[in-house]
Amino acid sequence: MSGSVLITGGAGFIGSHIAEAFLAAGWSVTCLDDLSRGKRQQVPRDARFVKADVRSPEAFTAVADGKFDVVIHQAAQIDVRISVDQPALDASINLVGFANTLSAAAAGGVKRVLFASSGGVVYGDPALLPTPEPTANLPISPYGVSKLAGEHYLRVLGALHGFEGVALRYANVYGPRQDPASEAGVVSIFVSRLRAGKPLTVFGDGTQTRDYVFVKDVARANLLAASVTVSRGDRLDVPAFNVATGRETSVNDLAQHIGRALGRQPAIEYAPPRPGELFRSCLDVSKAARDLKWVPQVSFDEGLKQLAAWFDGAVQ
Ligand SMILES: NC(=O)c1ccc[n+]([C@@H]2O[C@H](COP(=O)([O-])OP(=O)(O)OC[C@H]3O[C@@H](n4cnc5c(N)ncnc54)[C@H](O)[C@@H]3O)[C@@H](O)[C@H]2O)c1
Repeated sequence: MSGSVLITGGAGFIGSHIAEAFLAAGWSVTCLDDLSRGKRQQVPRDARFVKADVRSPEAFTAVADGKFDVVIHQAAQIDVRISVDQPALDASINLVGFANTLSAAAAGGVKRVLFASSGGVVYGDPALLPTPEPTANLPISPYGVSKLAGEHYLRVLGALHGFEGVALRYANVYGPRQDPASEAGVVSIFVSRLRAGKPLTVFGDGTQTRDYVFVKDVARANLLAASVTVSRGDRLDVPAFNVATGRETSVNDLAQHIGRALGRQPAIEYAPPRPGELFRSCLDVSKAARDLKWVPQVSFDEGLKQLAAWFDGAVQ
């Protein structure tokens, strides 16, 4: 299937890879972004670009009048700590902005909306690992609340206006174009520090775990989710899919993996644990494998090599 897609946050890290994946599959692509964090040069040359804030009337008009088949919502305030310090700002971008996008999609007769949710936050402190979709429960940050509430907006407005909503709950995404200056990308931060000969800071004892998924695998999950048949169901998790690897990696192991990929021995500095951080996170991906026919294809070592090549300027 191909058609016309609008990607909010399309100048950002994940959104720009999604744009490339859809272009490669023959779609007509429009990226909408306020460039608060994204970069204009990350928008692929063959995509249209609209500079707008997702909360604005301009964004509403761009989405509603564009005759899009699919809208993919990636634009967000992504920093958990900003959400703790400024919950109203987080809610304004992540909820008001999403509600505006969804209303516009409804007004424009869009058939399907994909939403970038987060498997790292909608499950709160998970009782079950790898964590399956039905256990989404009590987020422990305002960012987590905005992602879980976003899934509810998607469900309710989809049912009211007749579009299909699919929530993709990403694990920890890494890969080229992730900003090492951001708080969110530990992989990029470690790679950039190791390349600069600087020690890696590990908060706590480094045994805390995450599930790291490569950005091009995430883009491919979006492409598949744009056209697969989804049921609405009577539960939030029915049209929700974890996008992850199902593999747990500790921060200590992450440092060693990166050291091997770059051929350098990392020096590690341990710092006090950060309050409010999850201790373990790892997502069950069997539902995406079954319903989206999606499994991650890029191994951790291969993904790290591609990230290192990007830092070298060898890939875009
Ligand atoms: N990176 C991860 O590991 C991860 C994990 C789970 C979920 N997510 C979600 O995936 C999505 C993409 O994240 P990312 O890592 O690519 O971050 P990113 O910051 O690179 O991308 C977000 C984009 O949204 C844009 N944006 C922010 N506020 C906007 C606004 N008000 N109007 C228009 N555009 C706006 C930014 O300029 C940026 O280009 C986000 O929704 C994020 O919450 C990311």
